[in-house]
Amino acid sequence: MDMEQIVSLCKRRGFVFQSSEIYGGLNGFWDYGPLGVELKRNIKHAWWQDMVLAHDDLNVLPSAPGVYSMTGIDSTIIMHPQIWKCSGHYDLFIDKMVDCRECKGRFREDHIPGTPCPLKPSKQVGQHDKCSLTDPRDFNLMFKTTLGALGTEEDAAFLRPETAQGIFVNFKNVIDSTRYRLPLGIAQIGKSFRNEITPRNFTFRSREFEQMEIEFFCHPNESADWYRYWRDRRMKWYQDYGVGSERLRLREHAADELSHYSIGTADIEYAFPFLSEGEYGELEGIAHRGDFDLRSHMEGKLDEKTRPLQVQLGPDGKPKWRGSGKDLSYRDDLTNEKFVPHVIEPSAGADRATLAIICEAYHEDEAPDEDGKSQKRTVLRFHPRLAPIKAAVFPLVKKDGMPEMAKEIYLSLKKQFNVFYDEKGAVGRRYRRQDEAGTPYCITVDGQSLQDGTVTIRDRDTLQQERIKAADCLQVVRDKVN
Ligand code: GAP
Repeated sequence: MDMEQIVSLCKRRGFVFQSSEIYGGLNGFWDYGPLGVELKRNIKHAWWQDMVLAHDDLNVLPSAPGVYSMTGIDSTIIMHPQIWKCSGHYDLFIDKMVDCRECKGRFREDHIPGTPCPLKPSKQVGQHDKCSLTDPRDFNLMFKTTLGALGTEEDAAFLRPETAQGIFVNFKNVIDSTRYRLPLGIAQIGKSFRNEITPRNFTFRSREFEQMEIEFFCHPNESADWYRYWRDRRMKWYQDYGVGSERLRLREHAADELSHYSIGTADIEYAFPFLSEGEYGELEGIAHRGDFDLRSHMEGKLDEKTRPLQVQLGPDGKPKWRGSGKDLSYRDDLTNEKFVPHVIEPSAGADRATLAIICEAYHEDEAPDEDGKSQKRTVLRFHPRLAPIKAAVFPLVKKDGMPEMAKEIYLSLKKQFNVFYDEKGAVGRRYRRQDEAGTPYCITVDGQSLQDGTVTIRDRDTLQQERIKAADCLQVVRDKVN
């Protein structure tokens, strides 16, 4: 499998299109087409269902240090600008940018190794005689906008570069408005924006993307155990959805990569096909964040270089970025202990998960056509829960009452699943089209169906066909998909 095949399939079958394509496209922005929107929605739904809605908060889950609760929020994309000052994004969310005076190319300094020179792609940026690179300059990745009509610097606001801060600043609201006790995870799915200097590798590095984040609040003494729990739980989640090959790995950060307040950070990584042999790209980070965020929003932006953490001071000796002044600590009503919770943050990208799941599902194999001849086929082996279309329904031929019976089955399934009805062309070709869309089951109404009320159901991966009662189709598909 190579990246060109994936990108071309995504466009041809309506998974992903370049944004604004008819106007020449917009670098770093991507649209999801009819199949892509369903796949990504199913991934986000599976995450929310597995992490939040179906969470069992009455029993200790396997490998968990204890019982815990989960809930969710949906915060705004534009928030008070002070949030980004206290979170550190205003000062520190910076990449180093280098321009070439000759070719007018713009590069992220840390991406230059391995980046081909636009003037001579066999050479690396900076290595061609004509290259004339500027010194690296700081570039803040937050998109800036203005609130209201005046447009002065005081009205500047930012599109959120992560969903996480919306959770931190609502921690007190959630605790005060519910009966949840700690440990508690608050989840959020939503758009984030980063003005990446060099968006690249299809949807992997985009300027607008979606995150699926959990901020898990717990007692400081228990945070190391919860970190390990979340790291392993999140790795298993990808494996459960079929991203289980040697392309997936868990990489624990070395001690010198960690913020000093952090007990651990791990990345779940995938060997995307656009990377060189042995390289992996981040799907999700699981970070132990201590009490850095809550305290920064209480007291003022903390200085990450201090130990114990202290508020960063400006030249006048006052907090450089003042906090909210609100008490974001938690009082345990059983022990009466008051403390600032520590936070474990599993932070995943919905677009990167979608891309990895497409790459992992992509297979080319051989399957017999309608004449029994072996033919090459492209098949997306999505987990049935994630597949954009769960089942396709076909009449074998467009006559003798077969379309009527097939349409009845189709409509009965459609109430619960995204299903597809197709009566055009040879049935073998219709199977192929569904294989390429990743549809796990195809139901066909044939001559026998009209006599005994049965239909065939074909499995995308084994190619086995089973005969089942037409009246059982809904239950059979429900059992298989769940
Ligand atoms: N709150 C922590 C945080 O935002 P991050 O590692 O910067 O951490 C988390 O981002 C996840 O968001 C990444 O693992 C990745 O899946 C996704 N992500 C980050 N930048 C992205 C981009 N430019 N395009 C697509 N996904 C991105």
